[in-house]
Amino acid sequence: MELIRLNGTIITDTLNRPLHDLRISVIDRCNFRCQYCMPADKFGSDFQFLPKTALLTYEEIERTAKIFVGLGVRKIRLTGGEPLLRTDLPLLVKMLSSIEDLEDIGLTTNGVLLPKLAEDLKNAGLKRVNISLDSLNDELFGKINGRKIGTKPVLDGIEAAKKAGLGIKINMVVKKGLNDSEIIPMAEFCKNEGLQLRFIEYMDVGSTNGWKMDDVVTKKEIFNILNQHYELEAVDPAYFGEVAKRYHYKDSKVDVGFITSVSESFCSSCTRARLSANGQIFTCLFNGNGHDIRNIMRNGASDEQLRQRIIDIWKGRTDRYSDERTAETNKNRKKIEMSYIGG
Ligand code: GTP
Ligand code: 5AD
Ligand code: SF4
Ligand code: SF4
Repeated sequence: MELIRLNGTIITDTLNRPLHDLRISVIDRCNFRCQYCMPADKFGSDFQFLPKTALLTYEEIERTAKIFVGLGVRKIRLTGGEPLLRTDLPLLVKMLSSIEDLEDIGLTTNGVLLPKLAEDLKNAGLKRVNISLDSLNDELFGKINGRKIGTKPVLDGIEAAKKAGLGIKINMVVKKGLNDSEIIPMAEFCKNEGLQLRFIEYMDVGSTNGWKMDDVVTKKEIFNILNQHYELEAVDPAYFGEVAKRYHYKDSKVDVGFITSVSESFCSSCTRARLSANGQIFTCLFNGNGHDIRNIMRNGASDEQLRQRIIDIWKGRTDRYSDERTAETNKNRKKIEMSYIGG
């Protein structure tokens, strides 16, 4: 289906899902080695990251983003690896924030470079940051991030984002036996700081993290733990396709969220396209077949040709991996790493 609306076109995929969000990975490198994402033994000093020439330039990203916005995208999220490692990121934010009809630009980061960059990012037009923090215990956090980095650099990053006036959410991936003991300390900290914490179910992305169903702490389990300490009430989604299911602490203004990719999938409302740092479009976090647009651009395609390519990709989209997740689909899939596709 291709509907024309006032400012552009709305396209839907084979399951009638419109295109609304674009997640852009700007770099595949990271200064952390989180064990659920880039385990240090698999991403060692000899790991071949993308060479600089393979990365889309800011002009190429801007050009692609404009076409996506013309096709209905209203929200862009910059991801990595760690996006703040890409040189001059505020410049890209500035280029993207000038795109007419784009309503929201966010960034997902581990936070450690925010003291240096938060203000410039805000001035460039960034609205929100989602900062990963899996524990408040320095030793445990150092073990999880695989670099023995304590919590202070991240807490300083949170402060810097606050000071710059950015909206902030905290992402905590919960892995059984690793950091489930941190559920209440993290909830208490975020509640006191007025920050929205999202508990993320550990997902089977990529093929390096050794994921097992037994390692997942489900939303229900986390909710039951929280419920022993706090009174919570469900909050309606803020918009169609919101990833987190949110609850409100009855005695405060703060919300807490759950990202339930494993126990309660949300594919039927998935409006997200993903662009990798080397210019491949992915239609699902778990679909390893990327569609190249970098070479098409570098070979001189016109905007109309590029636009048509993106329309064809979205219209052909059938993905609903989390809805279908079984041992069998797990086994046979060609998978992409989280650090390459940006979550
Ligand atoms: P908001 O715009 O603030 O809602 O951001 P977000 O939650 O969409 O983005 P973020 O990068 O903070 O991602 C949080 C978690 O949700 C990460 O673990 C992502 O991998 C996961 N996530 C985001 N989108 C999807 C999706 O479409 N499918 C699945 N399975 N997981 C997703
Ligand atoms: N499962 C769930 N979330 C993950 N993230 C990285 N790897 C995984 C995984 N295996 C999260 C990060 C970050 C976001 C981009 O994705 O913690 O918050
Ligand atoms: Fe880096 Fe984020 Fe992956 Fe951790 S989760 S290794 S901070 S990209
Ligand atoms: Fe979207 Fe794929 Fe995630 Fe389902 S599993 S919500 S289709 S990205």
